[in-house]
Amino acid sequence: MIVRPGTAAAALFLVMASAANSAEDGASLFARFECNRCHRIERAPDPPLEKQCLGCHERILSGAFNAPADLLSHWQGRLTSLTAVPSLIGTSKRFKRSWLADYLMDPVDLRPALPATMPRLRLKREDAERLAEFLAPADTPDPVPAGNPANGRKRFETLGCGACHRFSGADASSSVPPPMAVDPAALARGIALAPDLRYTRERFRRESLALWIRDPASFKADTPMPALPMSPIDAADLAAWILTSPLAQAPAATVPKPLPLLEREIRWPEVEERVFKKICRHCHADAAFAFGDGGPGNTGGFGFPARGFNLATYQGISSGIRDRDTGRRMSVFAPGPDGTTPLIVAAMLARHAEIAGRPDSAVRGMPLGLPPIPLEEIQKVATWISLGRPR
Ligand code: HEC
Ligand code: HEC
Ligand code: HEC
Ligand code: HEC
Repeated sequence: MIVRPGTAAAALFLVMASAANSAEDGASLFARFECNRCHRIERAPDPPLEKQCLGCHERILSGAFNAPADLLSHWQGRLTSLTAVPSLIGTSKRFKRSWLADYLMDPVDLRPALPATMPRLRLKREDAERLAEFLAPADTPDPVPAGNPANGRKRFETLGCGACHRFSGADASSSVPPPMAVDPAALARGIALAPDLRYTRERFRRESLALWIRDPASFKADTPMPALPMSPIDAADLAAWILTSPLAQAPAATVPKPLPLLEREIRWPEVEERVFKKICRHCHADAAFAFGDGGPGNTGGFGFPARGFNLATYQGISSGIRDRDTGRRMSVFAPGPDGTTPLIVAAMLARHAEIAGRPDSAVRGMPLGLPPIPLEEIQKVATWISLGRPR
């Protein structure tokens, strides 16, 4: 059908197209992409424990997980990934809808002290917009900040905001502790989850900012940010400084170059121990390993299709991965998109590029959303592959 603009057919076509788009609303996208395996939110229940990346890790660290004490303490010594993730409670009063959609499509590292970032998911722009709509009402015009920025800058120092927050690019240096006792565990959590205030002007609803600064729990009951003693005028001054302080350009991050192959022999047990078993297997598992769920990188999850990639055993890694589009099995040792680097090495290097703000559109960075594998370990994997993968 050819639809000429301005005709009744065009109007009908638009109605039909928007009906097709609204078939999947934000709430069902949130469920399909399994956002609540990492994020708590008031509008959706937590998934069962065996699906909760955050919830299970929290329970292991607090000792509430039902397992023998020696096993628990062994795990506690190893667990650093996804032990704190910001909840999505009260997002509607905090975030701009337009920022949410952009961020979901192209996540940046918001929290300098948090090892994980929001993973790059397989979202279409319209999915990101529906999710943003689910998380926040339409944007309103930004009010002009009313406070006095110079006073705000001083209050930032005297109130100890810098004990938790970085404000990169701004003229702020402060390591004064908050003027009240904060329990050490709560402080550590606050530091891990405090955003770099550089991004606040893009993402926070300006009409709410001063109130947030004075009384964050009234927006988000579970926030680790304490209410510090200040007047409404101080809060307005702080908001004005955070919104208007000149910011130096972020230093250009460079993508590190891979290291050359090693001269010595590398066998499977070494790469298994240093890389695959340590990190990768937690998402690319033997289906028997974790309650029958082979992890998002094997049996699918977070909106990704099942790629059938098991990094828990030598046989698993040797039998390769399913192509995203055709479903056909392919080797992860064969050259990836650049025509020379093995796909599995390219994926680990792509994570370094993502962290430097240069995501590779042809390969997803691995480990997904987690800190990059050190170049020295990637070098071992590359050497092992070049030697024909000795066992
Ligand atoms: C594997 C875990 C994981 C999954 C799955 C995940 N996220 Fe995240 N997300 C994170 C982490 C970690 C951060 C914090 C990143 C940072 O601060 O740099 C984050 C940050 C965010 C933020 C910013 C929140 C804030 O307070 O700054 C939003 C919004 C968000 N995620 C939405 C989503 C949505 C929507 C989905 C599903 C489509 C989703 N996330 C799936 C781990 C996850
Ligand atoms: C039922 C509990 C449970 C669930 C659910 C769970 N994990 Fe874990 N995870 C653990 C335990 C226990 C360890 C430590 C085990 C070890 O090191 O051998 C661990 C370790 C890890 C590690 C390696 C150690 C580290 O901290 O870097 C990663 C990565 C990881 N998990 C990611 C995930 C992701 C991603 C999810 C969700 C898809 C998830 N886990 C779900 C229990 C769980
Ligand atoms: C104990 C640590 C801690 C202290 C001290 C602290 N904050 Fe926070 N702040 C946080 C955390 C954590 C968040 C993220 C909120 C959440 O997701 O629950 C936050 C969020 C914010 C935000 C929203 C930023 C954004 O982009 O979303 C602003 C603005 C802010 N804090 C300003 C301040 C100011 C100003 C002070 C000092 C008066 C201060 N904070 C003191 C931990 C802290
Ligand atoms: C937090 C979960 C998670 C962790 C940890 C993880 N992966 Fe993945 N991996 C996935 C998911 C999900 C996919 C599917 C992505 C897709 O289809 O675009 C995937 C896909 C891949 C791919 C194919 C990439 C592509 O663009 O086709 C490779 C190669 C890979 N993973 C290797 C690894 C290696 C090596 C590690 C450890 C260093 C690792 N993964 C750790 C979740 C994870």
